[in-house]
Amino acid sequence: MRWLLACLLAGVVIAVGDGFARRSSRAELPGAAAATPGGRPEYELRGAGSCAAAACHNGNGPKGSKGSEYTTWVIHDPHARAVEVLYGKRSLQIEKKRKHSPEVDENHPERDPLCLNCHVRPGIEPYLTQTHKLPRGAAFSYEDGVSCEACHGAAGGWLTDHYTAEWRGKSAAQKEAEGMCNTKDLRLRAELCVRCHVGRGDIDVNHDLIAAGHPRLAFEFGAFLANMPKHWSEETDKAGRRDFEARAWAIGQAVSAKAALKLLAHRADVKNKRPWPEFAEYDCFACHHDLKAQNWRRERKERKELPGTLPWGSWYFPMLPDALGGEAPKELMDELSSLREAMQLFGPDQQDVMARAQSVSAKLRPWPEKLARQEHDRAALDKALKRIAADDRRVSEASWDGAAQLYLAIAAHDSARDDLDREKRDPVLKTRIQALGKQLSFPPLAPGQHYDSPAEDGPKRVQEALKRIQQALQK
Ligand code: HEC
Ligand code: HEC
Ligand code: HEC
Ligand code: HEC
Repeated sequence: MRWLLACLLAGVVIAVGDGFARRSSRAELPGAAAATPGGRPEYELRGAGSCAAAACHNGNGPKGSKGSEYTTWVIHDPHARAVEVLYGKRSLQIEKKRKHSPEVDENHPERDPLCLNCHVRPGIEPYLTQTHKLPRGAAFSYEDGVSCEACHGAAGGWLTDHYTAEWRGKSAAQKEAEGMCNTKDLRLRAELCVRCHVGRGDIDVNHDLIAAGHPRLAFEFGAFLANMPKHWSEETDKAGRRDFEARAWAIGQAVSAKAALKLLAHRADVKNKRPWPEFAEYDCFACHHDLKAQNWRRERKERKELPGTLPWGSWYFPMLPDALGGEAPKELMDELSSLREAMQLFGPDQQDVMARAQSVSAKLRPWPEKLARQEHDRAALDKALKRIAADDRRVSEASWDGAAQLYLAIAAHDSARDDLDREKRDPVLKTRIQALGKQLSFPPLAPGQHYDSPAEDGPKRVQEALKRIQQALQK
């Protein structure tokens, strides 16, 4: 099912062939005296090269094996190629359209702080503008893309002793204080990913960037984590939390929703002078659709809103009540509904939206932590799965986003049930879940087509696929 998720989540893409024609010599960052943003030398970047010794993390062993983390990352992980893509034709075109600059040669996405904030690490600007310099001999190169320290934290404070017994004896909080992120904690792990995969503040893949050619960011933690080529042991990850897939899914929903709300508050804040209304906040396929019969838009019959209303928050919010445990707090959900109404007005009021988004985001704050502690047994997962699959509103509202999120929720719960009890694995159900995923996949791009979108007869076929899942669950 993993590849299916990958295809499904490829989302809306621009069909231009990517070539890595312009990969130049390694553009090293200047090496000189030590200083980092915040002025804390313990948070210096050391670079993926520092982890690449054979005896450390470059053991050349099989994918995911201990001691071969660097090997796995450099060979299999798309993060290792995150700067390489900035040399491709697609990035050049994005930059050209973004800057309205006709001269392709003047465009350097590989040096654009906006791009590098996500394609290397957030907070890279001071290094680029050389107000902060790297220590002499540091192996850091931004050509390494999203490398070890983007997730594990700048290694200046721990590189030389993180393999000692003394270090291993330290608590996660002590390690954190020295700059190492706690990637074992699922909430913190999800928060790491959303910085780049949802965006924050000015580090934003908005509709301007999407229309220029950037893929839409539609992050779902459970699926992205499953798709990321792992340089760690999945067994260890799941030890003590066999319900891992369901728990990660729920935490990811809450963390992503919170990040999306913070981003909305930033976009809405008049001070920030962002484009408004921000089209990327709405269901893409409400505007981008073809007008043939039976498409997702025409099928929408259960919407309460007036025709022509743009559905807001179609990706990050449809599953939130389920993620919070099926009995999500009423106050939070009411506030979210009011925010939705405010966003769906013609010409949404920026000040009002900002205040509402901040308030809902504040109410969500305790949830990821709470969900991280919540354990599910097989019976609880059975119940949750049945409840989620029975509620077909997301499909009857004919939003591809909602239906795709529903599918991912079903798949996560089913995987967790399997992990809890292999004996009770249900191959029929599994096949039907895969069939639902298939119905949601976008048809292949035609040559010259600019963006792809869901299959035309999608809603009907998705509805049928969901019904078959419901039937399998009744047995
Ligand atoms: C908010 C973070 C963010 C910003 C800002 C950003 N990107 Fe991205 N970019 C991503 C993520 C995340 C992906 C992977 C998307 C996915 O598959 O879900 C991506 C994917 C891409 C891809 C497709 C890569 C592939 O393998 O097909 C290109 C090309 C790209 N970005 C170029 C750019 C350029 C050029 C800029 C600057 C103008 C930029 N990006 C700014 C986060 C960002
Ligand atoms: C996109 C984020 C990301 C990047 C990039 C990344 N890691 Fe990881 N790494 C993780 C996550 C998540 C885990 C699993 C949680 C854990 O065990 O800490 C992990 C686990 C590990 C572990 C196992 C820790 C343990 O206690 O078992 C090592 C070692 C490691 N990474 C080293 C590296 C090295 C070296 C690089 C660069 C070559 C790297 N990582 C790049 C996210 C990342
Ligand atoms: C520093 C920013 C950054 C962080 C942090 C980050 N990513 Fe990414 N991720 C990217 C970019 C940029 C790409 C696109 C790379 C490319 O295609 O060249 C990407 C691509 C991916 C892909 C491939 C997507 C596809 O369409 O094939 C997966 C899966 C993924 N990331 C998962 C994760 C997970 C899980 C985490 C958290 C543990 C994470 N990422 C953290 C920036 C980041
Ligand atoms: C309110 C309606 C509306 C919404 C919602 C909307 N768009 Fe657009 N989009 C437009 C318009 C109008 C244009 C053409 C003007 C422009 O380029 O900005 C456009 C242009 C584009 C283009 C460039 C098409 C081309 O041929 O160059 C892409 C790609 C795109 N949108 C993708 C998306 C995605 C993905 C989403 C959802 C995240 C989205 N749009 C949401 C109205 C919308």
